[in-house]
Amino acid sequence: MSAVTLKKGAVAVITGAASGIGLAAAHSFASLGMSLFLVDYSPHLDAAVKQIQAVDGVGEVGSMKVDVGKVEEVVAMRERVLDLFGEVSPRPPQQRRHIPPHARLLPLDPLADLQANWHAVLDTNFFGIMNVAQAFAPYMARQENASVIVCTGSKQGITCPPGNAGYNVSKSAVKTYTEQLAHELRNAPDCACSAHLFVPGWTHTGMTAGGDQAKPKPAGAWTAEQTVEYMIDKVFEEGDFYVICPDNETSSALDKARIEWNLRDIIENRPALSRWHPAYKARFEEFVQGKQGLSTRSRSRGRALDRERASPAPGVAVPLPIIE
Ligand SMILES: NC(=O)c1ccc[n+]([C@@H]2O[C@H](COP(=O)([O-])OP(=O)(O)OC[C@H]3O[C@@H](n4cnc5c(N)ncnc54)[C@H](O)[C@@H]3O)[C@@H](O)[C@H]2O)c1
Repeated sequence: MSAVTLKKGAVAVITGAASGIGLAAAHSFASLGMSLFLVDYSPHLDAAVKQIQAVDGVGEVGSMKVDVGKVEEVVAMRERVLDLFGEVSPRPPQQRRHIPPHARLLPLDPLADLQANWHAVLDTNFFGIMNVAQAFAPYMARQENASVIVCTGSKQGITCPPGNAGYNVSKSAVKTYTEQLAHELRNAPDCACSAHLFVPGWTHTGMTAGGDQAKPKPAGAWTAEQTVEYMIDKVFEEGDFYVICPDNETSSALDKARIEWNLRDIIENRPALSRWHPAYKARFEEFVQGKQGLSTRSRSRGRALDRERASPAPGVAVPLPIIE
């Protein structure tokens, strides 16, 4: 059980609040009568703010357009939040980078383009989270009321399915950073702030729907509302650090089997990412089936990368990443 109660009067700062999981979190908290500070760099933020202001019983709603990859903007945002609310309670989700990184590690593109792409992904996905956490955590660690910091990672930062190296690296960094943050907060004297790693499953959002969440939800995906509900239960009711969401295609048991296989690559000195190595394919399937007769079928094995998305370089297309 977390020491934080989601209730009228509590404050949530939500980054990436204009769309998807962040917007769904804003709706959930608003319906509990909480006050919110909504952050995004998208022009859609204004519409999101209007939607949230219209939620029955919502507290005060502040907002600011911020690129979380820019620490000076994040610090200005923190000052605005402290002016408005004095202190902060939970601080859920985050953001993602619209520009997908190259799915390939060995492209023939100019190195400068490749580097710019990787920096763009890491700036938002990792430094965005680090900037916000570093700006707020020292204040939250000292405030009287209990609070939580929820950082959004991905299974792609844990089991790391190949196909989108930049995204995987950024999400692995989020996992490690959030673990370190949780440890530091736990050991800080008189600190009532905790950190949590929120790992959505396949969730139907602007990101996975190619920018158009209005498209029909694929059967295997959860809605953003389902994912947020799961996060709220695990973080605020159970007090869990690792919140690994299932979806309609991947059960928690299958996630655990994949994570175990991944860790065993190190323990058993197997080739990196052996799950996708032809010599280990059958053993992986046997391993997973041995775990409660699970099926290995999922988007992260063998599903054709059948969708394409424009890359930042005009005229170049990169395969859409596998999202596990
Ligand atoms: N949807 C999924 O299946 C899934 C799975 C695993 C992890 N995630 C993670 O969940 C998080 C939310 O993703 P989503 O699916 O809701 O995507 P989304 O595209 O619907 O929402 C992301 C929001 O973040 C904003 N944003 C992006 N870069 C920003 C920046 N630099 N500064 C400020 N705002 C920025 C965007 O404008 C957008 O409003 C991401 O971290 C994503 O990696 C999503």
